Amino acid sequence: MNRRIITTEETFEDMNLETSLRPRRFGDYIGQEKLKETLKIYIDAARERKEPLDHVLLYGPPGLGKTTLAGIIANEMGSNIKVTSGPAIEKPGDLAAVLNNLQPNDVLFIDEIHRLNRQVEEVLYPAMEDYCIDIIIGKGTGARSIRLDLPKFTLVGATTRAGLLTAPLRDRFGIIHRMEYYTVPELRVIIERSASVLGVEIAEDASMELARRSRGTPRLANRLLKRVRDYAQIRSNGVIPQEISDLALDMLEVDKLGLDTGDRKILMTIIDVFGGGPVGLDTLAASLSEDAGTLEDVYEPYLMQNGLLIRTPKGRMATELAYHHLGLSYDKE
Ligand SMILES: Nc1ncnc2c1ncn2[C@@H]1O[C@H](COP(=O)(O)OP(=O)(O)OP(=O)(O)O)[C@@H](O)[C@H]1O
Ligand SMILES: [Mg+2]
Repeated sequence: MNRRIITTEETFEDMNLETSLRPRRFGDYIGQEKLKETLKIYIDAARERKEPLDHVLLYGPPGLGKTTLAGIIANEMGSNIKVTSGPAIEKPGDLAAVLNNLQPNDVLFIDEIHRLNRQVEEVLYPAMEDYCIDIIIGKGTGARSIRLDLPKFTLVGATTRAGLLTAPLRDRFGIIHRMEYYTVPELRVIIERSASVLGVEIAEDASMELARRSRGTPRLANRLLKRVRDYAQIRSNGVIPQEISDLALDMLEVDKLGLDTGDRKILMTIIDVFGGGPVGLDTLAASLSEDAGTLEDVYEPYLMQNGLLIRTPKGRMATELAYHHLGLSYDKE
């Protein structure tokens, strides 16, 4: 599949945009109410005890605000945040260096934590549990291990692939939370906040339309807003009325349910090639020339959440709603 405007992965364009739009405090972080409430209580308690917060694992599809939340946790704790990622830490020594440079109560954010290799992961276990690391000095028979104490810190891990996390690592997190897709009203609030940060005016019905087409994802909402803004700037006076919003969105081929051509192609393939399913994930992935993991973690959750696709023991199936959404007639047989 081509690179999608609707890709929820971070693009270069997003990075500039995200620095200015990224909420820094709970007050600006819309939605995920249950998680926020839990975290606030834990953070208050930790601050009162002058201890670091328990380790936090956040998982869920891209663009739902995991990185943002890690920053907010650090801010609300009044601590610093160090950011790294699974693939960036190649050797146990790399991780030891990162850990050794932490200050008490710091937040260490490890993005894509499922991509840590086994050896590195083993360094993390005692670090998370007892705030120490064992390092081996010397070689062969003369080698000995010494224990190094670390400052007490909070690990915030993020992953889109929770299923790939090993049990010992997962078990060492005190707070584990799955990020939810955002509702349309929540996305509307996010869009309106972003519009005001960017200094653009947006009509109520236009922000509603954008929210509906953002695929439950704040990153997408912000990206669509920016596209619409660029478009509106040329066509009118920077204001974004409904018509322009509709036009711009149709240009991007994002439909009323937030599906793009890629999503529709998945549904069409299940229906056309596999008679509506059930079809196994690998078979489906192969016929779409798409990676099975990406299909499962990035595309499917949204299709399932919207009742367009279901997972059965025999494989994936398109629902009646999917047929209707694509303008096809549904025959139970
Ligand atoms: N709850 C929220 N309220 C307001 N804006 C949000 C919220 N969550 C995310 N955003 C916006 O969406 C953007 C993307 O969020 P973020 O980078 O935190 O996603 P992520 O889950 O870390 O994605 P990835 O898995 O790709 O790393 C942020 O820059 C921010 O502007
Ligand atoms: Mg992130």
